[in-house]
Amino acid sequence: MRQLTNKRILLGVTGSVAAYKAGELIRELRRAGAEVRVVLTRSAAEFVTPLTFQALSGHPVNAELLDAETEAGMGHIELARWADCILVAPASADFLARLAQGRADDLLTAVCLARGVPLAVTPAMNQKMWANAATQANLDAMRGRGVLIFGPDSGEQACGETGPGRMLEVPAITEAVSELFTTGSLQGRTVLVTAGPTREVIDPVRFLANHSSGKMGFSIAEAAQEAGARVILVSGPVNLPTPDRVERIDVISAEQMLAEVQERVVSADILVAAAAVADYRPVQVATEKIRKTHDRLQLELVRNPDILREVKRAHPRLFCLGFAAETEDLHAHARAKLIDKGIEMIAANRVGAAAEDAEGVFGSDTNALSLLWGEDCVELPLAPKAKLARQLIASLAQRFDDWSKRTNGRGDNIVTLPGNRN
Ligand code: PMT
Repeated sequence: MRQLTNKRILLGVTGSVAAYKAGELIRELRRAGAEVRVVLTRSAAEFVTPLTFQALSGHPVNAELLDAETEAGMGHIELARWADCILVAPASADFLARLAQGRADDLLTAVCLARGVPLAVTPAMNQKMWANAATQANLDAMRGRGVLIFGPDSGEQACGETGPGRMLEVPAITEAVSELFTTGSLQGRTVLVTAGPTREVIDPVRFLANHSSGKMGFSIAEAAQEAGARVILVSGPVNLPTPDRVERIDVISAEQMLAEVQERVVSADILVAAAAVADYRPVQVATEKIRKTHDRLQLELVRNPDILREVKRAHPRLFCLGFAAETEDLHAHARAKLIDKGIEMIAANRVGAAAEDAEGVFGSDTNALSLLWGEDCVELPLAPKAKLARQLIASLAQRFDDWSKRTNGRGDNIVTLPGNRN
């Protein structure tokens, strides 16, 4: 089955005996990666309790059109805007009639009317109600307006009769919903991205850091999300908003970044290490502000853990793309890092005076990258970081596919050679 990673499904449940199946449907949709919010009609609440659906979806259930609390938060317009797709399952004959008329006298019909996304209904009713000309005319009207009708199945019904009108089975509904979405190159994958600088504290008022703004890493997180991946972003201190649908964890120091990456990488398929991690930290952190009593001050520094190297060593089956920020001999240094860290790909950029962009790479909205893997290399010329990130993700997805096929996803063709440890 295709994946529904990052997709937002608004599930409408109406008054039908089949309403109990909506619980299993929520679980299936979430298993496929979707986020689900539920709207219950009044008559649905006679068959099932909002509390059950709240527990299953992980969100409060919406039921009333004129509810001061929800209208201020997730009211009908916000719900319609939030969703990538509205699915009504089960859809009773009465609901279909009201939808066909374009009514907006309860929350579910109002959300359907206010939508700008696909609407699918899965009818569930007695076979004679299904066959009735009024129901069929309502369905024709809805089809004409682009509403998708999933099912129904035919067979034994709750009322004891046999015929068409049973709600489609849950796996078939989930499959039909997933087919509404185009598949991205990283659909169903989990990508962990590190971004920004780290700060290494010297005393209560000072720290060691670098000029990384996080823009490159955040753009990559956004591009991976657009490509269908679930994205976890571990970021050092930056001043950027979190990209939509990306899970963000903020850290300060290299050691914190390592701990967060180690904890979360177990669920990841791919690691993109775009962070500019401080290579050293002070041996001792002064508890009081260091006074300027001498002309010279010596700080003793100790090497920080190499996050990328340690994580790759512990998880050889993880596909890793590292970065190399170099002032000279871009390709040679980058290739040495590729081999030394035992990773699959590296994105090299010139920094400092050698940078192609007059502004430099750090903090700038543009960059240029050389992507290296094995003996191969592709140049991504100077462009906005958002565009570059999409190109990088497209190339990474291809390499990841090849690598998965070659290694059967086991990453067991990886050989770590001794090399330059800079
Ligand atoms: O954030 P911006 O302002 O947009 O700038 C983008 C950038 C220049 C920071 C980015 O494009 C970049 O090059 N990031 C990596 C910078 C860097 O630290 O390169 P490095 O050559 O020192 O490190 C090599 C690789 O090892 C990197 O993937 C780095 O994340 C990783 N590393 C380094 C040291 C360390 N202790 N742990 C690591 O994981």
